[in-house]
Order: sequence, then C-alpha cells, then structure tokens
Amino acid sequence: MKTISTNSPAATHVLRCVGCGAVQHHADRMFRCGKCSELLEVIYPDLANASHGLALRLKEIWKERRGSSFPENASGVWRFRELLPQVERSNIVTMCEGNTPLLQLGNSARALRLPHLLAKHQGMNPTGSFKDTGISAAISVAKAEGFSCVCCASTGNTSASVAAYAARAGMKSIVLLPAGHVASGKLAQALEYGAHVLQLRTDFDGCLNVLHEVVQKFPAYLLNSLNPYRLEGQKTVAFELMEQLDWIVPDHVIVPGGNLANGSALGKGFLELRDLGLIKNLPKISIIQAAGANPLARTMRENQGRELVRVNAETRATAIRIGNPASWRKAVAVLQSTGGVCEDVSEEEIALAKSKLGAEGIGCEPASAATLAGLKKLVHSGFVKATETVVLVLTGHMLKDVDYMLQAQAGQISSPIDADSAAVIKRLEKIL
Ligand code: F0G
Repeated sequence: MKTISTNSPAATHVLRCVGCGAVQHHADRMFRCGKCSELLEVIYPDLANASHGLALRLKEIWKERRGSSFPENASGVWRFRELLPQVERSNIVTMCEGNTPLLQLGNSARALRLPHLLAKHQGMNPTGSFKDTGISAAISVAKAEGFSCVCCASTGNTSASVAAYAARAGMKSIVLLPAGHVASGKLAQALEYGAHVLQLRTDFDGCLNVLHEVVQKFPAYLLNSLNPYRLEGQKTVAFELMEQLDWIVPDHVIVPGGNLANGSALGKGFLELRDLGLIKNLPKISIIQAAGANPLARTMRENQGRELVRVNAETRATAIRIGNPASWRKAVAVLQSTGGVCEDVSEEEIALAKSKLGAEGIGCEPASAATLAGLKKLVHSGFVKATETVVLVLTGHMLKDVDYMLQAQAGQISSPIDADSAAVIKRLEKIL
C-alpha cells in the first residue's frame, strides 16, 4: 500500500472531469476535459488508502509546522502540502498566505440571537483577498511547468493577486479587466505590482471569453479558477478553520459567490477531511449572491441545479458581478453534498450588513458583507437555528473599495470647521 510521506510533498494527483468522470494526468491550456470539455478537479487516489493513524499524524505535522520559519511551513497553504499537488520546494511561490484570523462577531450575533457567530477574515491575506491562497498553489505549478508568463480575467482581486505573485516569481503577468467596473484599490494594486493591465469594453464574463481565445494562441498560463490548482490552494481555508476551531465542525459556513470556485474549494476541503476521517460530519456550506448577479440562486430555485440560468449581472459589489459562472457545477455539487443553500440579497441588504460589520470594527469589501446579509435571511427562514455555530467567510479587505464606503458614509462626513479647540468642543457637544 502506498502511504503519504510525512516529510515530503504528498500523494500524487490526477485530474478528474466533474462532468463525465474521465481521468487524465495532464491538462490542456484551458484546463478542460479532453472528452467532454467540462471542468477538471484534482484528486489524490492514494488518499483513499490512508490509514486513520496516518491521518491523525497529519494533524500533528501541520501543527508542528506552524512554529517553523521555512517559507513552505509558514505558508497557510503549503503547510498542508500532503493534500496539495507535489511541487519542488524551489518552485513554491509563497508570501505566507493563509494564516488569517477567526474573529468573534458580538453585535451581529446578538442582533441575530446566535450564540456562536464567527468571521474567517480572508481579506487579511498578503494582497487583501482569499485569492492569494489559490494563486500561490497554481502559480507554483506554473513555475514548475516552466512558464514565464501568467494571465487572468478578473473583477479585480484575482488580478491583484496574480500580479503580486507573478512579480515574486519573476514572471510576467497579463490581466484583462472589465473597464469601469473594477474597484480602484484593486486596479491600483495590479498596476503597482507590475501587471500588464488591459481594460476591455465588456463585463467579467466577456473578459474570460476573450482570454479563452487568447491562451490558445499566446503562451501565457491561465490563472483563473477554471485552473483546478487554484481550488487546491483555496480549499486549505477549511483545514485552517478546523485547526482554529479545535476540530469541532461548525454547523454552517457561508461564502459569497461569483464565479463559484471559492464555495467549491471550501466544500472540497471539508470533504477531503471527512474522507480522511479527520472530521465526522460536514458543515452546511451556503453561498450568497447579489440579487443582480444571482445565476446560482436562480439555477437552484428554477431547476434544482440541473442547468445554469445565465443572467446579465449588475451589482455594486463588483467582485461578484458575474452572470455566467464557470464553476457552477462544482458549486451545485457542494450545496447538495453538504446540505447548504444558495440565497441572494439586495444592494441595500449588502450595504446595511457591511456597515454593521464596520461598526464592530470588522472591515471587508461589499461582496464579503453579502454573507452577513444572507445569514440574516437564513435565520429568518429558519434554515439557520438559534443554537447553531456559523462561520462567515469574509473574502476581501475593506480598503479594496474605498469609493463604496465613502459613498455609503457620505452623510457622516462633517463640514470643515476652524482649527480652534472651542469650535471642536462645540461640534463635539452637538454630536456626542
Ligand atoms: N469575494 C471577493 C472579494 C471576490 O473577489 C470574489 C471573486 C468572490 C467573493 C467570489 O468568489 O468567484 O470564487 O465565487 N473575485 C474574482 C476576481 C472573480 O476576479 O477577483 P468566486
């Protein structure tokens, strides 16, 4: 029997089609099944044979690595490398991603009458979003395969992450963005990290379609979440969360949904832990979309996940302004295997949730706040019960979209007053 090595990168992987189940060892440039063109997922056949003792040992190894200063141990992704594609140490591109805080939400918990409400803040990653975990994994595979140029289409965060990790790896990066629909913080990041930024007169879905054609003719490695190695990095949030919760599985984990890879990755992480016997049950994973960009919510409502209902996306939560999500099949499978649901929330509900989080000192971007807005609906519908533990995954940092906040808080900005203590005290007496 093959076992997982405990001190070197782990089980070898293969790629399996999520549509027809065909297995292949290498992916083409588009990361599509050679038989039916559906998306691929990474699987580790050896893991099925892992003994329970070995699985328990993994928990110890992962914990020990937290105290190590080697980059591949300090990374909240590569620390779990037994459950990742094997990559030579010299090809690992890491900036200590992952390792994000799990925060108690006091006021929001009280308002919803939930005893245990937590936020896993993925906006605390090196470039300010959860994308860093996935990009670290996939760009390391790209480096190992000898690529010197990477690319993505993006609503903003992927572009920032790709640009930063490419710079660290000494690679060129190309990003295609929907002109006029990317929050300025994200655009500024991509430029500052040295990406070649092309703004296209279309939306995210249009950018991704163009990129599909580009990569077939141009030697750039695709780092969008069609790339199954992205999900391998992103799934590690489940491992880290379980460590932080002392391996007690929460009842619900709630994520925002755009292209639908992140909810899929989270589900994959929990399923792998269950298959290894490290957890006995799964949390219900629910996905929240903006009402103006709700293809999954409609797909579940209108045909129970059988056929994607595409929409013309429009929302001020620009990160999730996506109408034709690539990973919808994977996301439907996660909802079905964990018993989660997909809900959509209005622009007003997102804005209110974001300000509530802000008022308890937890900043995040609008897309992330959709999780709290969705939770409110799920509590009211009775899907989330008063005794249950809930974790919201906050996907992006507050400073990504400053314009959104300044607009929302415009009424709070006071007009300038004289630089004089009496004038200041007079004003304070009025407002306090
Ligand atoms: N939250 C934030 C902050 C995001 O940037 C994204 C996606 C999501 C949630 C949704 O994740 O697409 O895996 O369902 N942003 C992508 C980008 C599309 O290009 O940055 P998903």
